[in-house]
Amino acid sequence: MTAPTKKVALGVSSSIGIYKACEIVRGFQKAGVAVQVVMTPNAARLISPLLFSSLAGTKTIVDTFEEPEERSIKHIALAKEIALLCVAPATANVIGKFATGVADDFLSTLFLAASAPVLIAPAMNEAMYLDPKTQANMARLRALGAEFVEAEKGYLACGDTGWGRLAEPETVVKEGLRILGRSASLKGKTVLVTAGPTREHLDPVRFLSNPSSGKMGYELAREAVARGATTILVSGPTTLVPPCGARTEMVVTAAEMEKACLKAFPKADVVVMAAAVSDFRFKDPKGRKAAKHAFGAALPIEPTTDILALLGRKKKPGQLLVGFAAETHDVVAHARRKMAAKNADLMVANTVGGGRGFGTETNAVRILAPSGPVQETGLLSKREASRVIFDRIEAQLEKKRR
Ligand SMILES: Cc1cc2nc3c(=O)[nH]c(=O)nc-3n(C[C@H](O)[C@H](O)[C@H](O)COP(=O)(O)O)c2cc1C
Repeated sequence: MTAPTKKVALGVSSSIGIYKACEIVRGFQKAGVAVQVVMTPNAARLISPLLFSSLAGTKTIVDTFEEPEERSIKHIALAKEIALLCVAPATANVIGKFATGVADDFLSTLFLAASAPVLIAPAMNEAMYLDPKTQANMARLRALGAEFVEAEKGYLACGDTGWGRLAEPETVVKEGLRILGRSASLKGKTVLVTAGPTREHLDPVRFLSNPSSGKMGYELAREAVARGATTILVSGPTTLVPPCGARTEMVVTAAEMEKACLKAFPKADVVVMAAAVSDFRFKDPKGRKAAKHAFGAALPIEPTTDILALLGRKKKPGQLLVGFAAETHDVVAHARRKMAAKNADLMVANTVGGGRGFGTETNAVRILAPSGPVQETGLLSKREASRVIFDRIEAQLEKKRR
């Protein structure tokens, strides 16, 4: 049986770089990828949709409200079919709409409805490209997970020479194919991710916890889903929306997290322990709210189970165990010691405190394996960091297989 053809939605907006979009359609087709072109109404004023319909072999979509041929809502149906939304050329307007959630035409509505990876190739005059508002919109989209093919420097249609020229079609297609390749790289594998803090209650209104927001773990689970893995997310209390496509189990305490992990562990090929599990719990928690004076000067605590170490002892040869070490100092040394003590295959270490790590949008991590140099990522959005971490996980899985 041949594998089903992957489909890309190519979003085309009204930039002068539009003429290069024809070559992008061709490039994807040559690689065996089906293309559905979606034009903004303004783009359709620059070039006839018929040109793209003829190239792609499917009717170009421009109008959200066109009577559908089948009984389906087109932007939702297409959102489910595509393995990639590639927007090339992307105008400043489209980038602004994507960044702010405006959905006033088919392309921007598709962007909101789709959970497929998004690749954006901007094209505009240099002043528009370098404008802080455009740059801020691009930064926001990057943080939300979109990837970019940077605009190039060169001769622009307005007669200026500068930044803003649409990247060459081959570059856009190459980047798109790289993302498509990644979209099934963990197909058939089960990935267990833990995220967020745990809470150890003293009574129903008081607890011991930590400032973990769960963002890193949620992004990791999102990335596992994007790579085609069956993804189980075990999450402590957070305010985040669980990633679409992951089976999410919400827990509160370290003991509940341990139970959920032990249940999922036998099926898991990869376990990523990004949760900040409380190391201690109260020895004598109360079932009802206790008065302040009911507590003595000291509140006796006891250690919780070290879940990473527990799974490290239970690990089978094919399973890959990834631990996280959030440290305020001597980060690499602590991470190395933990990796050995807990039998982990990879350790992701980061510095916390001073505005870094917990609850932030960005993270700079160091990835350690039992042998070899430490990989430093530099400051990345947690979305980007999750990609780097999974690239390393896949490389390590490959090493184990050999
Ligand atoms: C000939 C022509 C070329 C244009 N080229 C660009 C461009 O390269 N980049 C851009 O951001 N806007 C460009 N614009 C302006 C956009 O078309 C305009 O902002 C429009 O509202 C964007 O609509 P859309 O994003 O829905 O396609 C151009 C306009 C014209 C008339």
